[in-house]
Parts: sequence; C-alpha cells; structure tokens
Amino acid sequence: MTPLEQAARAAQHAPSVFNTQPWSWQISGDTLELFADQERRVTSIDRDGRLLILSCGAALHHARTYLAAAGWSVSVERLPDPAQPHLLARIRLGRPVPPDPEAIRMATAIARRRTDRRAFDDRPVTDVELTRLRRFVEAEGAYLHTVRPDQVAMLAVSTEVAAGAELDDAAYRADLHHWTSRPGHTGDGVTPGTAVKPEPRRVPVRDFFPGTTAQLEAGASHDQGAAYVVLFGNGDQPADLLRGGEALSALLLLATADGLATAPLSDAVEADWPRHLLRGLVSGIGEPYLTVRLGYRHDHEPVPAAPRRDPGDVISSTR
Ligand SMILES: Cc1cc2nc3c(=O)[nH]c(=O)nc-3n(C[C@H](O)[C@H](O)[C@H](O)COP(=O)(O)O)c2cc1C
Repeated sequence: MTPLEQAARAAQHAPSVFNTQPWSWQISGDTLELFADQERRVTSIDRDGRLLILSCGAALHHARTYLAAAGWSVSVERLPDPAQPHLLARIRLGRPVPPDPEAIRMATAIARRRTDRRAFDDRPVTDVELTRLRRFVEAEGAYLHTVRPDQVAMLAVSTEVAAGAELDDAAYRADLHHWTSRPGHTGDGVTPGTAVKPEPRRVPVRDFFPGTTAQLEAGASHDQGAAYVVLFGNGDQPADLLRGGEALSALLLLATADGLATAPLSDAVEADWPRHLLRGLVSGIGEPYLTVRLGYRHDHEPVPAAPRRDPGDVISSTR
C-alpha cells in the first residue's frame, strides 16, 4: 500500500457529524485529493454544510498527521480550484524527512480516539493542559475558548434550547432516524452501543435515540471536572471551516494522547438563537464552530468503536 493510501485509510477514523464520513479521496501519482460528499450532508441541521466541512477538515488533519508521523514532507493546497468547490484539499507527497515526534504521538491516538458520551469524573482538566491544547489549535489557524464556570449555565441553556427545537422538527427526526438505523454494511451512522441513555447532565448530551435504545450508561460521575471548550475561528467560509476541522482533529488527538476523554457537541451551533448565544460566549470575536467536552474517566473502559465505511467505497486511485 502506498503512503497516500495509508494516509487516506488513517483518515477513515476521523470524527464526523452523525458519523456521516462525508468525504472521498482520489489518489493520482503523488497527489491525494479530498472531496466533500454533499449527499451525506445532514440537511435539517447543516443547511450551509458547515458541519460537513468541519468533518472533512478533521479527515484532512488525520491524513496529514499520518504522513508527518510516517516521515513524509507534504504540501497542502486548500480549496485549490474555484471551479471545483467540492475539491477541498490537495496533498502532494514530498521527500522522506525525519518523523515529527508530536505527529507520532497524535498518530498513535488516531485509532484509539472515540467520542465518549458518558459522564466524566470530578478530576479537573488543568489550566496547563488547556493551554497546551489551545497552542495546538492556534497552530492550525483556529482558537479555543474555555467556558468559564459562570458561563456553563449559558452553554447548557443554549444546548437544551437547540436540542428541544430540533426534536420538535419533523425533518430533524427523519435525519436522526436515518443516521441511527443504518444497516451494518454501510459502515456509518450512530449505533445504540455508542450513544448514552438520557440523564440530567451539566450540559445536555445529544439524545440520538429519543425513547429507549441508547445502550451506554452515563455512569456515577457528573461531569464536575469536565472542561467545555468552544472551538472558533475568524469566519465561516469553507476555507475557515476546513481549518477549523483540522484544528478540531488536532485538539481531539492531542487530548486523547494526553489521556483525556473527549466528546464534540454541536447542537448549539445548529440553531440561530443558541448560536448567537455561543457567539456571546466567545465575546463576539469569532465564529463558533462547535463545543468539545474534555475530561477524565477513572475506569478507562473504552466505549465501543463507531463503524467506518469500507475504504474501497471512499478511496479511489488513477494511475
Ligand atoms: C462536526 C461534528 C459535530 C459533532 N456533533 C456531535 C454532537 O452534537 N453530539 C455528539 O454526541 N457527537 C457529535 N459528534 C461526534 C460524532 O457523532 C462522532 O465523531 C461520530 O459518531 C463517530 O464516532 P467517533 O468519534 O467515536 O469515531 C460530532 C462530530 C463532528 C466532527
């Protein structure tokens, strides 16, 4: 297998909204091209495709991280061809170089990282750790705001208002049903084994199976030590969102490598009014992309892995 094919396969592990994995890869010679797959957009909550591009950005960062850890220099062009808006990035393989130690740490977290919707422990995430994560996010061209204790209630209300409005919307319920009842062979969507039973939480976690079938117990902890961070950037054009997705991946992989459990939360950015409240949390200085809950779980029992699409359906090569 060529390094570019291995990189595209590593990118299969990237997180994506509703586990839609809305991307495809095209390998020709020494280039690897990333395309957005608009047919996989969750239309009821992602009218403009923001969450889709964030997801593709995460896949792009996974591929870059794999190649840097494997000792390859690359050049990356983002949105290289205005005539092809779905072509999000072109990675060109360069020369072998010494593997990047930070990339190696992050690459080893690629297969281990999971969205953990269970409650996190009382052990707090330290300021030192949050500063470290912020540095990595900024290196990818985005920003991180740590939600202050006095702001958590606002985040909780924004999320609850958004989640309630969504569940009242028939189009959302249809999308939810579609992406939570996928036949096994599709390798996508959210499964009951990775979703958590509804319970009161500091900030609500998306209820993927309203009614009954989520299988994970939130556990005895109450997210008391959890940190909530808002990932944000300068704008919400495709180029900004792609960088935002790369920053999201850097945040999640580094946090995983450092022993933290992670869970993205995007309900509040999906509806206009809660999104406006979130903009207030980042003092109106940027566009909020999504929130991430970070924390520790003392039992270290991993959540089941979410399914992934067959690489043969996602990666193609031309000679
Ligand atoms: C842009 C984006 C938004 C997401 N929003 C949520 C969310 O609101 N709630 C949630 O529980 N998970 C959310 N996730 C996590 C995905 O559901 C998760 O990545 C996917 O199901 C695959 O599972 P994995 O992360 O364990 O590999 C989001 C992920 C991305 C990239």
